[in-house]
Amino acid sequence: MRRLYVFDTTLRDGEQSLGITLNADQKLEIARQLVRLGVDVIEAGFPASSPGDLEAVRRIGAEVKGVAVCALSRAVRSDIDACAEALKTAESPRIHTGIATSPIHMERKLRKTPEQVLEMAVDAVRYAKRFVSDVEFYAEDAFRSDREFLRRVFAEVIKAGATVINIPDTVGYASPWEYGELISWCLENIEEMDRVTISVHCHNDLGMATANSLAGIRAGATQVEGTINGIGERAGNTALEEVIMAIYSHRESYGIEMGINIKEIARTSQLVSMVTGVPVPPFKAIVGSNAYSHASGIHQDGVLKDRSTYEIIKPEDVGFASNRIVLTNRSGRHALKAKLAEMGYALSPEEIDSVYKKFLEVADAKSHVTDEDLAAIVQGKPVHVREERVKLKSLQASTGGVVSASAVVVLEIDGAAYEDGATGAGPVDAAFRAIRRLCGVDVELVDYSLRAITSGADALGEAVARLAPGGRNGSAAGAGDVVGRGVDRDVIKASALAFVDAVNKLLAAGRIDVAPPAAQAEAAGRGV
Ligand code: KIV
Ligand code: ZN
Repeated sequence: MRRLYVFDTTLRDGEQSLGITLNADQKLEIARQLVRLGVDVIEAGFPASSPGDLEAVRRIGAEVKGVAVCALSRAVRSDIDACAEALKTAESPRIHTGIATSPIHMERKLRKTPEQVLEMAVDAVRYAKRFVSDVEFYAEDAFRSDREFLRRVFAEVIKAGATVINIPDTVGYASPWEYGELISWCLENIEEMDRVTISVHCHNDLGMATANSLAGIRAGATQVEGTINGIGERAGNTALEEVIMAIYSHRESYGIEMGINIKEIARTSQLVSMVTGVPVPPFKAIVGSNAYSHASGIHQDGVLKDRSTYEIIKPEDVGFASNRIVLTNRSGRHALKAKLAEMGYALSPEEIDSVYKKFLEVADAKSHVTDEDLAAIVQGKPVHVREERVKLKSLQASTGGVVSASAVVVLEIDGAAYEDGATGAGPVDAAFRAIRRLCGVDVELVDYSLRAITSGADALGEAVARLAPGGRNGSAAGAGDVVGRGVDRDVIKASALAFVDAVNKLLAAGRIDVAPPAAQAEAAGRGV
C-alpha cells in the first residue's frame, strides 16, 4: 500500500470562485472540520491577496494542529513574504509558490520569456526556503505546457529545494489517459522527481476532474488536490469526496491508503455548503441529497431484498443518517438526544438535561444550531453567538391572488419594536421589502434559495439569502456579499429569518448601519 496525501484547497481555490467570500471565523470553522475529516494539508488562503486573507491563514496556522497549513503565492518575493508572515506560528507550514509555464500564459498573460519564467520559478522556491522547509511548486497550466520546458523547470526547482511538485490541469482540458500519461512522463523523464511528492490538481471544465485526478494517481502521483463539494473557479475543482470514495471503494486494486475518516464526509460537505451558501446539487456523487435515494419500483424492490443490489456505498459509511435531524429552538430533548447519539456522544439523562438548557439558549439566539455548536456545548466551550441587533418578532403574509401579495412584519431593532407592511411579487418579496424598509438599510438581494431539509408536508424549510451591501454597483460579483440562513416549518418565515440573519452579519461586520423608523423620521425632519 502506498500513502496518498490529501490536500484540501476549499479555502483557497474553492473560496476564490464566483459568489464565495469567507471571513476568518468561517474559514476556521471549515478548517477544524477538515482536520476531523483527516486531510493532510489545508491550503488556507492567498495571504498577499488581502489583509483579511492573511489574517485567516494566520489564525488557521496558529489554531489548527496536526495538519500542514499551506499558503499560496505567485513567484513574487512580496507574496512569499506575506505567506511567511501568515504562517509564522503554524506547526507544519508549507508555502505553495509557482508560475504559469504554458506558452499561452507566458506570452499573453505574463508577457515573459521562458527563460525569465524559469528564473522567477527558481528564485521563488529558493526565497520560500528561507522561511519554511516544505515548499510546493506549481506550474500553472502544466497540462498545456511544452514537455521539455516543464522538464527543465521541475528539475531546477527541485534542485532549489521544492519538496512537492504540483502539475495542474488549470483549465480542465485533459482527458484521463492524457493526464495520466503526463504524470508518467514526468516520473520517467525527470530524474529529480523521485525525491519529491507529486501532486495532481485538476479543474472540471469538461467534467473530468475526478477521472483525471484518479488517472494521475494511478500513474504515480502521491498527493491529490481538490475541494469539498468540488467548489472552485468556473466548473470547479476536483471534488475530494469523489476521489476519496473512488479510491476507498477500490482500495485493493489501487493499493493506496489515506488518512481520511470517511464518516466525516457528509458533515464536511454540509458545513462547506452552509458556510459558503453554495447548495450541493441533489444529484452530486457521494454527497447529493439524491445520492442514496431509490425511486423506481424495481430499484426499491432490489434494495429492500439486499441493499447492495443498487447501493455501492452505504450512506452511513460517509456519515449520512437515514433521517437527518435539524435542531432549532423548537426541538425537544428527544431530538437532541438522537442528534447527540448520531454525533457519537452517549450522555447520561442528567448530562442531556444540562446540555438541553444550554442548547435552548443558543437555539434562541441562532436560527439553526450546528454540529459545531453542539460539540462546543457538550465540551463546555463557549458558543460564539453574535449579538443580533435585528430580531424578527412576528410575520403575517398573504399570497395575494387578484391583488399582490403582502406581508406585515414586526422587528425588534436595538431593543425597540417596529411594525411595517409591504406588498410584493410574492409573500417572500413582500416580507423582504418590509424588513428592508424597517431597517432602513441599502442592501441588494443577489441570491435566494429555499429547500426542504426534512421530509413530509411539515418539513423544515431552510432559506438562504445572499445580500450585497449598497448593491453590487458594478463590483466583482460575490465580493463582499454575506449569506444569511433561516430554518422554520413556515417557509416564508424561514426566508425572513434568512434575510434578517444576513442583515445582522453586515451590521456585525460594520458594513452597514440600521436606520429604524424613528431614525428615519428624525432624518426627514419630522421628529419622532
Ligand atoms: O489551477 C491552478 O493552476 C491553481 C494553481 C494556482 C495551483 O490553482
Ligand atoms: Zn486550481
